[in-house]
Amino acid sequence: MQATGLEEAIARAIAALDFGRVRKEYWDQNECIYLKGFLPQAVVEQYFVPQVENLKPELNRNYIPGHKKGGSVSYFTVREQAKEFLTLYRSPAFLGFLTRLTGAPLQLCPEADPHSCALYYYTEPGDHIGFHYDTSYYKGARYTILVGLVDRSPSCKLVCQLYKDHPSKPMKELSLSTAPGDVLIFNGDKLWHAVTPLGENEERTVLTMEYVTDPGMNPFKRLYSNLKDSFAYFGLKAVFRGKS
Ligand SMILES: [Fe+2]
Repeated sequence: MQATGLEEAIARAIAALDFGRVRKEYWDQNECIYLKGFLPQAVVEQYFVPQVENLKPELNRNYIPGHKKGGSVSYFTVREQAKEFLTLYRSPAFLGFLTRLTGAPLQLCPEADPHSCALYYYTEPGDHIGFHYDTSYYKGARYTILVGLVDRSPSCKLVCQLYKDHPSKPMKELSLSTAPGDVLIFNGDKLWHAVTPLGENEERTVLTMEYVTDPGMNPFKRLYSNLKDSFAYFGLKAVFRGKS
């Protein structure tokens, strides 16, 4: 019953978009678009925020000096304990919208990918991530969708540098908040992005979802990707347990 209500809310959110404008902006911005208030805050609070709280004991904290500090909950835990997020991730309406937007034959990630539908928590002062691409280790492209869930964090901004490494366009920087229901959609190999450090007594949680155009992966890239996920995100046990 709950899932039906969420599915209806997702369909309404997509129908409310001016799709032509959204698609034009996505392509004008080198495959990146920020949709302020895509999901109503009330929907996020009803379906997702209770899960954000429930999953806190499952947090894997990680710290890579000079690059990253924060907490993560992998797809494997989300799949076991917070199926509401999977209703969005697997929504045919949402996947259809993303496919029309990107013009790419998007698929869900393989079940062994801990990033496919995961949560990032910024809960301690200084939690952040430095500039990076969401590089695809798959044979095809990888797209990232971030959804704001909790944002009591005036200091913590998602900073996007559009057109970095673009052959002709000058770089343009966006500093975005991810309030509940705000969404950012981008091609992982094209958007250089970072999250600025969390301040005292602040908190920020985002849902991250990944879709791919070809789920194949060369075994060496798979090993590299798993090790990176173990140390930078979810922990060795989660990544290799999820694989088996
Ligand atoms: Fe990222």
